[in-house]
Amino acid sequence: MSNRGHRPVLLKEVLDIVDVTREGIYIDGTIGLGGHALGILRQNPRAALIGLDIDEQSLDEAKKNLTPYADRVQLFHADFRYIPGLDIDFSAVRGMILDLGLSSFQLDSPERGFSFNQEGPLDMRMDLRNKTTAFKIIDTYSEPRLARLFWEYGELKQARRLAKEIIARRKVKKIETTTELRSLVEGVCGWIPQKGKIHPAAKVFQALRIEVNGELEGVAEFLETMARKVPTGARLAVISFHSLEDRIVKRTFARLASDEGGTALLRLLTRKPITPSEEEKISNPRSRSAKLRAAEKL
Ligand SMILES: C[S@@+](CC[C@H](N)C(=O)[O-])C[C@H]1O[C@@H](n2cnc3c(N)ncnc32)[C@H](O)[C@@H]1O
Repeated sequence: MSNRGHRPVLLKEVLDIVDVTREGIYIDGTIGLGGHALGILRQNPRAALIGLDIDEQSLDEAKKNLTPYADRVQLFHADFRYIPGLDIDFSAVRGMILDLGLSSFQLDSPERGFSFNQEGPLDMRMDLRNKTTAFKIIDTYSEPRLARLFWEYGELKQARRLAKEIIARRKVKKIETTTELRSLVEGVCGWIPQKGKIHPAAKVFQALRIEVNGELEGVAEFLETMARKVPTGARLAVISFHSLEDRIVKRTFARLASDEGGTALLRLLTRKPITPSEEEKISNPRSRSAKLRAAEKL
């Protein structure tokens, strides 16, 4: 496949836990560059794949990468939360994958503004039709709102101080680029690089990205809708990259697998999340924080 820097995270683990050997439809709600999708199509000639992504550029890349299997693939430029509205035969669905977060393609495109390591505009939109950019948030949110954002979505200790500094700074000059924001964060947090420590800008960028793209909104409701919609035996798998997201997936699966308040809809396939092997973490550092959870429709 093209985009040589890209390696699907926990590929074998995902294909195994979803059991992609069965005939039917597999849905990849975050198709990205098509890494997991390609794994399914290669392994199972009786698999039809439905792929969605809110990022049109990523979807174009996926389309190229999946060309050899085009007759078994249907792609949609849409939010995965739209899946229940698709006009497909849900009774034939055998599995669904969500690999949340960013692709290496997005991170490695400085003009998208996702990376604090590369100079770019403060954009961070996965869907370019979205009107909210990171710049707009930094430029218009009030101090308490910024502080809450950095605290809740970035778990940044210096959230209030950073919010205060942003307000003071933007009165003098607009904060427009990734590197401007990074150096401001470094100043406020007194950042000194240390092995094993997370750069504070990583937390700030994560918070902004979650807010720009509404990443946590409606995920629990979506999983519940899908759990009701798919047939017995279908498997749902989600890879998360930060604790806020993972918490939502964990709690939702646990709730839907419990008998309380009615009959359980799901059976948990992972009591504890599956995480990458040491080997994968070394060969693909992006996989380090990945957690895979899966459940089967009862
Ligand atoms: C980690 S990448 C997926 C990589 C993919 N599994 C692969 O192997 O190539 C995440 C992708 O999900 C997309 N995405 C994030 N949130 C989404 C949403 N709500 N709906 C659809 N796509 C989304 C991003 O645009 C990105 O392309």
